[in-house]
Amino acid sequence: MRRAGSVQRLRLGVIGLGRAFMLMMPALKGDPRVELAGAADPRALARDQFERDFHAPAFEDPLEMCARNDLDAIYVASPHPHHEEHVLMAAAQGKHVMVEKPMGISAASCTRMIEACERAAVLLMVGHSHSFDQPILRCLQWIRSGRYGAVRLLSGWNYTDFMFRPRRADEFDVQAGGGVVFNQAAHHVDVARLLCGGKVERVDAFVGNWHPSRVSHGAYSALLRFEGGACANLTYSGYAHFNSDTWMDGIGELGRRVDPGKHHQTIEQLKSGLQQTQEEQLKQQRSYGAAPRSGTEQSPVAGHQHFGPLIVSCDKADLRPTALGIHVDSDEGYHFEPLALSTLERQEVLDEFLAALWGGRPLLHSGHWGRATLAVCESIARSAQTQQGVRPEHQMAVPAA
Ligand SMILES: NC(=O)c1ccc[n+]([C@@H]2O[C@H](COP(=O)([O-])OP(=O)(O)OC[C@H]3O[C@@H](n4cnc5c(N)ncnc54)[C@H](O)[C@@H]3O)[C@@H](O)[C@H]2O)c1
Repeated sequence: MRRAGSVQRLRLGVIGLGRAFMLMMPALKGDPRVELAGAADPRALARDQFERDFHAPAFEDPLEMCARNDLDAIYVASPHPHHEEHVLMAAAQGKHVMVEKPMGISAASCTRMIEACERAAVLLMVGHSHSFDQPILRCLQWIRSGRYGAVRLLSGWNYTDFMFRPRRADEFDVQAGGGVVFNQAAHHVDVARLLCGGKVERVDAFVGNWHPSRVSHGAYSALLRFEGGACANLTYSGYAHFNSDTWMDGIGELGRRVDPGKHHQTIEQLKSGLQQTQEEQLKQQRSYGAAPRSGTEQSPVAGHQHFGPLIVSCDKADLRPTALGIHVDSDEGYHFEPLALSTLERQEVLDEFLAALWGGRPLLHSGHWGRATLAVCESIARSAQTQQGVRPEHQMAVPAA
């Protein structure tokens, strides 16, 4: 860790300069507590861009970067089939780790990451996920305070164009962590676990896979029963028809105003008969090194990031966290609690990591927490396949404040 003037700085290396890195970049670049001090990526274009942007070295081989002694921590943002290899590599070099969601592609793999970080006595945090969003954390605060009584039922929906964004073929391969159950339920389940107590006792689910050419998990509907009696129902469709951001004041997942017709444009583009290679080129064009940020992300921030409409039904109120604040329909009537925006997008992720690293505060989004979420995602897939209820392993309660 370096001190610049009176500011303590975390020297961070990044593995994987893709979309996730681009979404974390405003926080990583703008937070004076962080110095982006190295990167690793197989793409030369991305490495060159990183060296120009951050005046720090970029490597083809992640091990060469992890072995440097001028880094304190590694942000693992490579595709999730590589998370285990990269987390183990960072831990073996004594570096603290922040790994993107989903933590891995199996609970067993997550266990190996947890054990490696425990052995090396380094921190392991899983994030970003949308359970870091301010409106969700505010709901958690209220739930913990007992203000509206116990949580009984949580309902969440998200209708997106996930399946029709430009993709590599391997992103549809469910065995390699492709499709919406691994990629999107990881957010949904994380939010539901945080607000419903954390320990899922039973999962009953349906998973949809109905497009003839984009074959993968494209939709799900899952019922999660929690220890203590709460129940969550989560529904997601990535088939680019309805856009549920219209139910979120027209503000999208990344906190920007969205065009309600965007999904139709997305689907039209791919219906026009792109070959796989052309589609991969289109994806490359949106990557770090090829494009600064996509059009939507260059537009001004209009609200908090979110993962779709949500109603949290408690004993004394229904809470509806949105991009602008929280609607409260309670025994006392209705009110809206606006929530001011943070100065940097996704800064909450760094706040939690640094509070644990420098302040000794327990992590909310620890490796154990990430594994419990992944185990529920695996149970969604298994329940859909067997058409039976599944009891997920590795569950843990929400850590105390
Ligand atoms: N939290 C979020 O909102 C969010 C958003 C997007 C992605 N993600 C997660 O981030 C991870 C990466 O996804 P993405 O969308 O950025 O993927 P991506 O394909 O856009 O980028 C991945 C990057 O990793 C690089 N890479 C590939 N193999 C590598 C290796 N062996 N070593 C080092 N780098 C390697 C690629 O060249 C690319 O630059 C996934 O786990 C994904 O689920 C999270």
